[in-house]
Amino acid sequence: MVSEVLGKWLITGANGNLGRRLIVHLLQSTRDNIVAVVRSESALQTLRQLTSPEGDLSEADSARLSLVVADYTNVAQLQAAAQGCDRAVHLVGILKATAFATYQAAHEDSCAALVEALATSSVKHITYLSIVGSKPDAANACLASKGQAEAILAAGGPGACTLRVPMVLGEGDYASGALRRRASGKNGFVFRGESLEQPIYAGDVVSAICAASTQQLEGGYDLGGPECLTRKELYQRGADLFANTPIFVSLPIGLGYLVAGALEQFLGNPPITTAMLGVLDHDDNIDPEPTMKHLGMEKLTPLDDMLKAVLVAD
Ligand SMILES: NC(=O)c1ccc[n+]([C@@H]2O[C@H](COP(=O)([O-])OP(=O)(O)OC[C@H]3O[C@@H](n4cnc5c(N)ncnc54)[C@H](OP(=O)(O)O)[C@@H]3O)[C@@H](O)[C@H]2O)c1
Repeated sequence: MVSEVLGKWLITGANGNLGRRLIVHLLQSTRDNIVAVVRSESALQTLRQLTSPEGDLSEADSARLSLVVADYTNVAQLQAAAQGCDRAVHLVGILKATAFATYQAAHEDSCAALVEALATSSVKHITYLSIVGSKPDAANACLASKGQAEAILAAGGPGACTLRVPMVLGEGDYASGALRRRASGKNGFVFRGESLEQPIYAGDVVSAICAASTQQLEGGYDLGGPECLTRKELYQRGADLFANTPIFVSLPIGLGYLVAGALEQFLGNPPITTAMLGVLDHDDNIDPEPTMKHLGMEKLTPLDDMLKAVLVAD
């Protein structure tokens, strides 16, 4: 009799939008085990909701999920969490840095600690999620930090694959909520309404992560959604679902940078920063086909189906 080889996944940043989605997908579609790493007790509670009687996971699925609290920059804690795992998915990341949460700590330091922790472990491969436009010498602080983090993983012991994605839309996530408010609301303003967006469905990102990990793909890959359109057009495509025709006045992005810069001067945790605005303003226009071929993905969720799922069905 040939015994089935089961995978054991180490997932860091497991309580985030994509982490929770990945956990549910893996436990429901495979017999693999998961070690889900979070950095606080409150984050742990978020994952416990998945395994509660009202949660998405059955008792049998929940039994294959272990929860661990660790500091993402603590090598010994990560090493202990990775015991027996054969692959890792690193989902730790921030769009907005503050005085208390720097890009360096969340991106470069967490990747350096992970690489060190896994160097002598059973983990053979790391899948990392980054942002389209990331590169070590990017002018934008967030994109440069993500690019540095990618380089740290690429130079480390286990094989590493970075998937760089643009705006991700999933049921119940922050980006979808913001888009719904725009689409169902009244007239408003938008910074540089002509900037290009290429949203990708969260379910497709999870499929891409699974494919990259299972195939132990190495290197960096850009993966965008099936359609590229201006930000104003995206808002209107969403508004169509509410039979709404709001008018969005486009403001120069320079004004946005001025406002964000001023907020950064006076607030410890401003609602928007210049680096964050720069990432959101990035023109995303990628041909997804080459990466889909590498991943063996045949199709992506069409934009209108994605919008229906995240804006209306929720
Ligand atoms: N969602 C998108 O549109 C998108 C687009 C491109 C790339 N990505 C990348 O995909 C990954 C996962 O995205 P997501 O949507 O699941 O993100 P998310 O929901 O914001 O989750 C991010 C994770 O990172 C942790 N984290 C946040 N700030 C941290 C800090 N200062 N130090 C250490 N850990 C910190 C969070 O933990 P706490 O809950 O404890 O704060 C959480 O576990 C991220 O690396 C992100 O950069 C996402």
